Amino acid sequence: MLGLTGTAPFCHQFQDGVYRDSIVYFNGVKLGEHPSGYTPSRYDISKKVIFGKPNILAVSIDPSEPEGWWYEGGGIYRHVWLNIANQLHVAPWGTYVVSTVPGGNVASPSMANVSVTTTITNASAASLSFTLVSKVYSPHNILAAESEHSGRIGAGASHDFAQAMKVDMPQLWSVDSPQMYSLVTTAVENGQAVDRVKTPFGIRTIRFDANQGFFLNGKRVEIQGVCNHQDFAGVGIGMPDSVFAWRTKKLKEIGCNAFRTSHNMVADELLDECDRQGMLVMDENRHFGDTYDPKTSSGTPAADLADLKELIQRDRNHPSVILWSMCNEEPLEGSDEGKRIFSAMMDVVHKFDNTRPITCAMIDGWGSGISTVEDIQGFNYGPGGYTAYHFSRPTTPLFGSEIGSTVAARGVYVRDDADGLIDNYPSAPPWAQTPEDTWQPIASQPFMAGGFVWTGFDYKGEPTPYDWPDVNSNFGLLDECGFMKDDAYYYKARWQDTPLVHIFPDWNLNGQEGKPVRVYCWGNTPRVELFLNGASLGAVDMPKYRHAEWSVPYAPGTLSVKGYDVNGNVVATETEETTGPPVAIKLDTDRTVLTADGEDVTMVAVSVVDAQGRVVPTANNFITFQVAGAGHVTGTGNGDPTNHQPDKGSEAPVFHGHCLALIGASDKPGSISLTATSPDLVAATLKLSSTASTFNATTIPPAR
Ligand code: GAL
Repeated sequence: MLGLTGTAPFCHQFQDGVYRDSIVYFNGVKLGEHPSGYTPSRYDISKKVIFGKPNILAVSIDPSEPEGWWYEGGGIYRHVWLNIANQLHVAPWGTYVVSTVPGGNVASPSMANVSVTTTITNASAASLSFTLVSKVYSPHNILAAESEHSGRIGAGASHDFAQAMKVDMPQLWSVDSPQMYSLVTTAVENGQAVDRVKTPFGIRTIRFDANQGFFLNGKRVEIQGVCNHQDFAGVGIGMPDSVFAWRTKKLKEIGCNAFRTSHNMVADELLDECDRQGMLVMDENRHFGDTYDPKTSSGTPAADLADLKELIQRDRNHPSVILWSMCNEEPLEGSDEGKRIFSAMMDVVHKFDNTRPITCAMIDGWGSGISTVEDIQGFNYGPGGYTAYHFSRPTTPLFGSEIGSTVAARGVYVRDDADGLIDNYPSAPPWAQTPEDTWQPIASQPFMAGGFVWTGFDYKGEPTPYDWPDVNSNFGLLDECGFMKDDAYYYKARWQDTPLVHIFPDWNLNGQEGKPVRVYCWGNTPRVELFLNGASLGAVDMPKYRHAEWSVPYAPGTLSVKGYDVNGNVVATETEETTGPPVAIKLDTDRTVLTADGEDVTMVAVSVVDAQGRVVPTANNFITFQVAGAGHVTGTGNGDPTNHQPDKGSEAPVFHGHCLALIGASDKPGSISLTATSPDLVAATLKLSSTASTFNATTIPPAR
C-alpha cells in the first residue's frame, strides 16, 4: 500500500525481478503483464495515483511453468521501486557512456574520450526549454569533465542528446584496480534542477585476439571465470545486495576474475559489485528469440526481443561487462534457423551498444549456424575440439563458455550412492571434465581466451549425479554456503601467483588404521613432499596443471605436505590433523557492522571445533541460532546436497564441520547479539551492530 501526498507529476512503478508471469494491478486496475521471471517490468502510474490517500499495488504471479531447468524460485525477489520525477526528466536507463582512449588498447593513456548519450523525456503537454548538464567525477570524486547542452523538447517527446568530453590522465578500470568514475546528469528547467541521476562507469578498453586471447587495457588477461545461477543458502533467489558483494569477494579470493550470468539477466546490484570488485562479466540473455520455453524450437520468431533490449539498455554502462551472450546450448545453434534468430538478436544489441563482442554458449554445431555470424566462439565442454577449431578458423577468437562440471560434495571422501553424496576425488559426468582436464587445454593454448567453470557456487536443483531427495547441485567450486571444496584449490593454484599446496582427505579416519588411503595433492609448486607424523613419505614432481598422489597406510596424527620451488626451497605447506571429538562452536564473520536498512545481512561461518580449536571434519551437530537486539536470523544452510532443513529457519545441522547463518539487520540501528547452541557443545556468541543507513533525500539515484 502506497501513501502519496502532494502532487507528483510523473510516477513509474518498477520491479527488478518477479518470478514469473506477473500481473500488476494498481487501485484495482490492471497495469499490465510481464512473462519473464528475469527482466524488469515498469508501469507508468502518473495518471492513476490518488494523492493524499492510500493506493494499493497488487502483484499476481505464477511460477508453475519453468523458464529453465534449474531451481528458479518464485515471487517478487528483487527490489521494487516507485520513481517520482518531474515531467521533464532523464528517461529510465537513459544515459549511455562510452569511453575510448587514443591509440586503442593501451596501458596508461594520457587522455580518454568520454561520449555520453542522454535520453531526455518531456512528459508534459507543452514543449519545454531545458539545459542538460553532464559532469564526470573521478574515482576520488573530483570533477574531471563537464558539458552543457541547451535545447527545446516537444510535448510528450523523448530525444537523445550527445555530449563529448575528455578526461585527462584517466584511471583505468581493471580486474586488479577497478577504478570507477561517475557521470552525474542534471536536467535543468527555468534555472532549476528538476532531475538528477548518477551513472557509475569505468574507462577501459577490451579486445579479443584470435591467437592471443583477451586483452584489457592492452594487457593479456586470462579469463579465469565461473558460471553461476542466482540463488544462495538461506535466501534462495531473494538475494540481499550484501550477498552479491560477499559472493563476489569469495570468488575473488580463489583468484576468479570473471563471472558468467548463466543463463539469464541478473540483478543490477550484482553487476555493481562486479564493477566495484573488478570481476569481468559475460552477460547472458535468457531466451533465444521470442519465446519463454526453456529451449527454442523451430519456427520461433525473433521480432520483438523486448527482454534482450532491456538487458542491453540496463547493463551497457557496466565496465565489468565484456561480452554479450545471447543464449546457451540451443538445439538450433548449428542451423540456418539458429543463424537467423541470432542475427536478429545481434541487430538489437547493435542498436543499443556497439562496444562489446556478441557471443553465446554452444555445445554443438560449432562452425555452422550461429558460429558463422557471432563475433567470438564459445565452447561448452568439448576441450578436445579447441585446437582443431582454432586451426580451421584462425581468425576467430575462442573461449570456454562453459567448462568443468566436476561433481563433489564438500568434505565427502567416500562416495555414498545410497545417501546421494559424491566424493571429492575428481570425477565428472560424461559430458564434463575433471579440473585438470578442464584447465590444461585452456591455459596451455594462448589462443584460448580463458573459460568459465560450471559453477562457482553450488545451487539448488540439478543434483547430478543423483536425483531427489538430493536438492542441490554438486558442481560448485564452493558449496552453496561459500565453503571451499577441494576443487577450488586446483583453480586457486592456477589463478593466483601465490605458492599453494592442498591435500585431501581429512585425517579423521577412525577405524581405518593400517588401511591404505589415497592422498591427493593440488597445488602450483613443481615438487611436493608428504609427511606422516614427521616421517617423509617421499617427494614427487607435480607436473604443471596436474596433481600428486600417494597411497598412505592410515595412522592418526599429522599429515602434512611441503611444496618446493625449483631451487628446493619450501614455499608452501599444509597440514591435516586428526582432531579430538567436537567440544565447542566457533563463529566467524568478515563484517560485524551492518546497515540498519532492514535488508543488510552478514554471513556467519559456523564451525564445530575440538578442545584445541581445530575444526572437526566429521562433526554433524545440530545448531540452533538466537539473535537478540536489532537483528534476526535471515536463514541458514550447510552445503549438504541432501539437506532438507528449511533455509528460512533458525537452525541447521553442521555438515562436515561447518554450516552458515545469515544474520540480518532490522531497520533500527543498535547492537545485535548472535548465540549459537547445541546440546553437547560449548555455545558461542558473536557481537554485531548496525548503523543508520546513509541513503537519504540527497542521495543521487541511478537512471532507473
Ligand atoms: C550444461 C548446461 C548447464 C548445466 C550444466 C551441468 O550443459 O549449460 O545449464 O545444466 O550442463 O553440467
